[in-house]
Amino acid sequence: MTETIATALTERLGCRYPIISAGMGGPARSELAAAVSSAGGFGQLGMVRESPALIEREIAAVKRLTNRPFAVNLIPAATDPKLLEDELAACFKAGVSAMCFFWDVDQKAIARAKREGCLVLHQVGSVADAVKAEDAGADVIIVQGVEAGGHVWGKRGLSVLLPEVVDAVEVPVAASGGIVDGRGLAAALALGAAGVHCGTVFLASPESFAHDYHKQRLVEAGSDSTVHTDLFAINWPPDSPVRVLKNSETEAAGKKLWGYHPDQLPREVIAKEDGAPVYRYSTASPLKVTTGKLEAMALYAGDGVARVNAIRPAAQIIEHMMAEAIATIRSDAARITAVAAG
Ligand SMILES: Cc1cc2nc3c(=O)[nH]c(=O)nc-3n(C[C@H](O)[C@H](O)[C@H](O)COP(=O)(O)O)c2cc1C
Repeated sequence: MTETIATALTERLGCRYPIISAGMGGPARSELAAAVSSAGGFGQLGMVRESPALIEREIAAVKRLTNRPFAVNLIPAATDPKLLEDELAACFKAGVSAMCFFWDVDQKAIARAKREGCLVLHQVGSVADAVKAEDAGADVIIVQGVEAGGHVWGKRGLSVLLPEVVDAVEVPVAASGGIVDGRGLAAALALGAAGVHCGTVFLASPESFAHDYHKQRLVEAGSDSTVHTDLFAINWPPDSPVRVLKNSETEAAGKKLWGYHPDQLPREVIAKEDGAPVYRYSTASPLKVTTGKLEAMALYAGDGVARVNAIRPAAQIIEHMMAEAIATIRSDAARITAVAAG
């Protein structure tokens, strides 16, 4: 068993390693969440806008696969209020012990989850929202830098935003955005984080529900492969930036990567997800059950994607990340000693 680094985050979440897998809507289903939690990380189900029936099924599936803790991720601001209410009810009925929210801080959703006895994680993109989420009762703050894949609320680089958030709140903070290896984990710890929250690196695992095409594109991506844009806008509120791999749509947009409004984009079906239509410029990414023009869809990826070079099981990703973080911290410490002695 790999050595670990015990932190306030591992203590609060009840997991062995300070590594959280992001609740990626679509790709983060039971297989991935359970694999991460079984391996000693903290897994999450990404259930944004999913039906209560699917949420119940996925929670039951994780519980069949592992008895370790995990969370369910929801995004109040991107969900119809009635559906959100039903989703929350499904989570509480299934007895989940932790919820994670993202985007605008919804104090009511946090309070509701706390009343049900859940631990609440909240991903934020600014110091102000971190303080607001903590004041509303969040037990863990996840701070997202602009490097992140998927929907990006953070507008600043993680290396500057993270220490500011660490100084502003009391609860454990996890770093999110562009972290794909143990050097990233070591750096986040050095900046005051108590752990990391990773999406892209787990997206490229066999356990993720992403389509193989998306996984292959991640593995092939280089250091200039992602763009930050609001072109993939249909299904979300306006002004919701994403980070995706460049594709035929972003190339066609040329320099105009910003200023799109979901209601002003054409409705043209380019794919089917389990039979349901997927529009060009929709926020849907290709899943195992998607067919059609996959290349033109939102191929989410964080800016660390150039260092995701293989499709690896979640357990292996976690072990390598931990071992590399520990080796990095030890070698840094050794370097400092050598300079002082010499
Ligand atoms: C495919 C994909 C889907 C995502 N969906 C969600 C989501 O539904 N809810 C959420 O809180 N964050 C979502 N995110 C953002 C992650 O929570 C996290 O901020 C991001 O993955 C961190 O950056 P990284 O991908 O470079 O690790 C998603 C990210 C990706 C890559």
